[in-house]
Amino acid sequence: MRFSTAVALVALSATAAPVQAAPIFGLGQVISNILHTSQSQVQNLIDSWSSAVQQATDAAKHGKVTFWNPVAVVKKELSAIRHAHAVNWPRKKTFPGWKNYKANGVNIGAWLEIETNYVPTAIPSEYSEEWTYCETEGKAVCGPRLEKHYSSFVSTADIDKIAKYGINTLRIPTTYAAWYDVPGSQLYHGQQVAKLKNIAEYAIKKYNMHVVIGLHSLPGGVNWLQIGEAQGHLNWWYNSTNFDYSLKVVDKVLDYIEDSWNPSAYTLEAANEACDSFEHFATPETISYPDGVNYMNTYLRAVYALIEKRKMSTFLMFHDSFMGPSYWAPFWSDSDRIVIDAHLYFFAASGVYSQYTSQIACGQAPATATTVPVFVGEWSLQSYYNNTFALRTEIFQTQQYAWQNWLQGGAFWNIRYQGSDLVSSGEGGTKDYWSFLDLADAGVIPEGGKITGSYC
Ligand SMILES: *[C@@H]1O[C@H](CO)[C@@H](O)[C@H](O)[C@H]1NC(C)=O
Ligand SMILES: *[C@@H]1O[C@H](CO)[C@@H](O)[C@H](O)[C@H]1NC(C)=O
Repeated sequence: MRFSTAVALVALSATAAPVQAAPIFGLGQVISNILHTSQSQVQNLIDSWSSAVQQATDAAKHGKVTFWNPVAVVKKELSAIRHAHAVNWPRKKTFPGWKNYKANGVNIGAWLEIETNYVPTAIPSEYSEEWTYCETEGKAVCGPRLEKHYSSFVSTADIDKIAKYGINTLRIPTTYAAWYDVPGSQLYHGQQVAKLKNIAEYAIKKYNMHVVIGLHSLPGGVNWLQIGEAQGHLNWWYNSTNFDYSLKVVDKVLDYIEDSWNPSAYTLEAANEACDSFEHFATPETISYPDGVNYMNTYLRAVYALIEKRKMSTFLMFHDSFMGPSYWAPFWSDSDRIVIDAHLYFFAASGVYSQYTSQIACGQAPATATTVPVFVGEWSLQSYYNNTFALRTEIFQTQQYAWQNWLQGGAFWNIRYQGSDLVSSGEGGTKDYWSFLDLADAGVIPEGGKITGSYC
């Protein structure tokens, strides 16, 4: 996720707030090139995986888009009372399953997938993304530079430090290229998995942390953004070649999990912020109905089938594409090992002033709950307007409390932040609202995962 105001993401999942991305990026011609195949064509495209895949044709079963209106809330009077809560953040060797789990998590993002706004020096400044960097300079050049970043961005000492703050969960987004060298892809395939293993197994062996391995990108490009493969890429959708490669990638992740020291310590997140028409990004039509919804479900069911085939107990996580977990829940049954990721950000939600952020989070959490477990895979402290240092501790604790009280907890984005941009409204830089380690050093986050002053 980019925080950039240019990518005017709607933070409050699937509210109808306007997304201004199209005019900013001049997307018109790109959008019109997107191939929308019919359902029967989709069937043909995936035939090669037919033994494992039941093509989804039941998009009509979808549930309601989560609609949460912050404007109605901010008109209510603010309460002056703050609450302390005794929250137990479990760290158990055997993962109890997402229904019985409460995550106090941190993302290790911008590590194994480059997001230059968080790590401006990971690649040369003339490039805004890994794809064009490696394409232009060649893998012999970009590879060593990226390996340097993988080796230096996060250390086992960082894991020791966040453990002191009660952290029990890591979400680690990766590119697909970390797992599988997709022919024609300009994304670098190197030592990412070895680096991930080094950090993840340390956290698991020493602290019984749970690790979510995320596929931030998918072959061909899953959302038009650089995080989806490369800017302007949308060929993941309705493309049998890329469907095939995606399952090969998933197979590699499952190999890793199955062969790991403690397979139960991992969850696989198979898709992140997927969107088949970027003009609708972060709206209730982020994935088109019915073709996009069927296509996504076909993929997710195929991934789930691969897990089942291996008789693994691994949970499948996927992002709700800002349509709300309730939209996707009806496609799964109670016994399925599914957890839905919702990104609840307030930095891009129209009209959210920092003094109302806590109150809004307390309403957003119950509104996001549904019949399957929900994990807030990304959240931060930045509000749209009037960011203030003084409110950060309350906003942190309130979200930490709300996500675990009504949902299964969440993961702060991000462990570390190296950018120097200023917030567009209020005090300080984005770093002051997005960097867990810096917030810990600044005394904003209480040790031990203690909640001493939550709004709700
Ligand atoms: C599938 O995607 C690849 C790139 O990822 C592209 O080269 C190819 O043309 C696409 N196929 C179709 C049928 O669109
Ligand atoms: C936001 O901050 C500005 C500048 O400090 C102030 O004038 C304004 O009243 C604030 N708005 C709200 C709603 O607090």
